[in-house]
Amino acid sequence: MKFFLDTGNIDEIKRIAKLGLVDGVTTNPTLIAKEGRPFKDIIKEICEVVDGPVSAEVIGLTVEEMVKEAEELASWAPNVVIKLPMTEEGLEATYELTKRGIKTNVTLVFSAAQGLMAAKAGATYISPFVGRLDDIGTEGMALVRDLKTILANYGFETEIIAASIRNIEHVEKTAVAGADIATIPGSLLPKLWKHPLTDKGIEQFLKDWEIVPK
Ligand code: E4P
Repeated sequence: MKFFLDTGNIDEIKRIAKLGLVDGVTTNPTLIAKEGRPFKDIIKEICEVVDGPVSAEVIGLTVEEMVKEAEELASWAPNVVIKLPMTEEGLEATYELTKRGIKTNVTLVFSAAQGLMAAKAGATYISPFVGRLDDIGTEGMALVRDLKTILANYGFETEIIAASIRNIEHVEKTAVAGADIATIPGSLLPKLWKHPLTDKGIEQFLKDWEIVPK
């Protein structure tokens, strides 16, 4: 499973990229707003640090606006992927951009039917939102599992990005479900390599080492 970082924060990306754990990055307007810097500067800087796909989201809601914005965003760096909302207009823009050879990530996917539509429109990636489904009392991971089955049934090349990942269990279950990618908040990813028993074990080993004759 590939790891994308779900952040607009360059320091988080640099820290985790040093460990070889960053296969790509996803952003959204909320994450960009937290940085207090121009969108273009953030995306260009991320693309310099990360070789893999970097999702940048359009704001327009009409097909024309989305395609125009997408052309602009795609000109910023070769690894920019255009993030589009799961709407009728978003599907048409996805279809058009796919024909133009521009990679897309259809976001805000909350049902298997939506994911199937996006894959048929040619989306490079689809982003089912696990945490936000959990928030309304629906098991988000069931959607990831269903989409995995549906895409495999028909041989779609579209990759599943499990998004709205909130905790370690989400990441583990995403991997068990066979999603291609988990996009993980920069604040959560460091927690994946931590375990209290690892820390306790190190402490004990160091303590015991002190009594080894030197
Ligand atoms: C990524 O593509 C999504 O925008 C992001 O994972 C949403 O996460 P949230 O539901 O925690 O805001």
